[in-house]
Amino acid sequence: MTAPLTIAIDGPAASGKGTIARRVAEKYALRHLDTGLLYRAVAVLCAAEGIPLADAAATGARANRLDPGDLERPGLRSAAAGRGASVVAAHPPVRAALLDWQRDFAMLAPGAVLDGRDIGTVVLPEARAKLFVTAEPDVRAARRWRELSKDRDIAYRTVLQDIEDRDARDAARSDAPMRQAGDAALLDTTQMSIEAAVTEAIRLIEGQLAA
Ligand code: C5P
Repeated sequence: MTAPLTIAIDGPAASGKGTIARRVAEKYALRHLDTGLLYRAVAVLCAAEGIPLADAAATGARANRLDPGDLERPGLRSAAAGRGASVVAAHPPVRAALLDWQRDFAMLAPGAVLDGRDIGTVVLPEARAKLFVTAEPDVRAARRWRELSKDRDIAYRTVLQDIEDRDARDAARSDAPMRQAGDAALLDTTQMSIEAAVTEAIRLIEGQLAA
């Protein structure tokens, strides 16, 4: 039996990593997991059930009981869910609870593309290909603002502040901080359209798979 093909795509919010991961998964006929959704679901469930997001043990226990159906909950993509996710994601019991889930998903044939913050460093250190996708914060904020302002009135400055706060929390936590794996290729999408970014991502991955 051939080993599952695993591809790790990490990077900060609105870098383009989600779209890139989806398109890479289509190209190689792999399954795709947006791992941010797991942290978002834990935060939204805890908030709904009155579990304080600052309580590492209680949020970790809730993460242990996460059900696949929880990833379908409405509201997971909201800015508030993203903020809550980055709070619970700093708790080691939450990260430990979600680790096996992510690895089990990746290891099922034929393999998978996982996108997140610590896929290449912690979840799948042996991934066959790894990318770290980034872009300047103001460009990421403008992308996110264009998306969010379709549905509601929101100031660009609020979105930028949110992205900067989240980047800082994700990079500063002691357990699995967001960082580029030593063997990941860096893809800066600041000046790229999403189509150009997908093309470049596939070119980088092809190079790694051929190596
Ligand atoms: O990617 P997304 O914006 O949905 O992620 C929400 C939050 O979940 C991130 O800001 C980060 O704190 C956390 N996260 C993480 N590790 C991952 C994926 C997401 O810590 N692999």
